[in-house]
Amino acid sequence: MPTDPHPFPHRHLTGIYGLQPWEISFLLDEAEQWIALNRGTAKHDDRLAGLTLINAFFENSTRTLLSFEIAGKRLGADVVNMHVAASSVKKGETLIDTAMTLNAMRADMIVIRHEASGAVHLIADKVDCPVLNAGDGRHEHPTQALLDALTIRRRKGRIDGLRVAICGDVLHSRVARSNILALTALNAEVRVVGPPTLLPPAIERMGVTAYTDFDAGLDGADVVMMLRLQRERMAGGFVPSPREYHALYGLTPERLERAAPDALVMHPGPMNRGVEISSSVADDAERSAIIEQVEMGVAVRMACLDVLTRARRGVPGWN
Ligand code: CP
Repeated sequence: MPTDPHPFPHRHLTGIYGLQPWEISFLLDEAEQWIALNRGTAKHDDRLAGLTLINAFFENSTRTLLSFEIAGKRLGADVVNMHVAASSVKKGETLIDTAMTLNAMRADMIVIRHEASGAVHLIADKVDCPVLNAGDGRHEHPTQALLDALTIRRRKGRIDGLRVAICGDVLHSRVARSNILALTALNAEVRVVGPPTLLPPAIERMGVTAYTDFDAGLDGADVVMMLRLQRERMAGGFVPSPREYHALYGLTPERLERAAPDALVMHPGPMNRGVEISSSVADDAERSAIIEQVEMGVAVRMACLDVLTRARRGVPGWN
């Protein structure tokens, strides 16, 4: 049982690591209210009015950047996206100096994506406001794991006891790491599936079962989460060729038959169609939750922005 005065006693969201299961569930519960608001025509709530959210993305993004921007705006915050390509980062400014600059502008929330694992922790230690990790290197992508958990919970009615197969480039994936932490905390039976070159050594220590045989890993799975082959993070020949990779580890309708008959197919995006997943699976309206994942991303990010600013806003009980 939680012993803290409120159900989310964290200043930042730098990762799923360190969160208690009930804290993860609390964020998912908080996100539920925003799904209905987002589906209506009046998508506005002013609880963050007067606060400034800065999105500092040092790596490309479509889903995460836009959903944080939409989440902040729907909650009434002033949202500023820092354009890294046109910033002084390109003149050699250090990450810490950039963070101190954003801090001096009295940001109330900073969302960061960076190619270096640990960069978000570094910034969180230096600034005065809540920092949210939008993906740092191979380390963590906590809001992705939360939106994935919310998608699974809504589609399956539970997470506890589900067999979830996380498949593909686990080695380079912050999405996999955050999902493993979240789903094992919520008592799912997690498998990681991929070629030996793309599975981290000793991954079993995270409480998962590793499979190099794709069919065996898919067998009876309730959720099949495919990962992007992250060629930008590969230095060397991790896979022979995209075509061969697809033949061995690509999710096709035939392969999906190995999973449970009602297995849910997920992918964090962006997808490499025809590499880790075939279009016929990705676009299967009944089995694929990929579009729903994007929708849940806005609700989850609204919940995170709301919860992390409660102390700052003086919400009773959240000092
Ligand atoms: N899933 C995800 O992080 O997507 P983006 O890179 O588009 O933000």
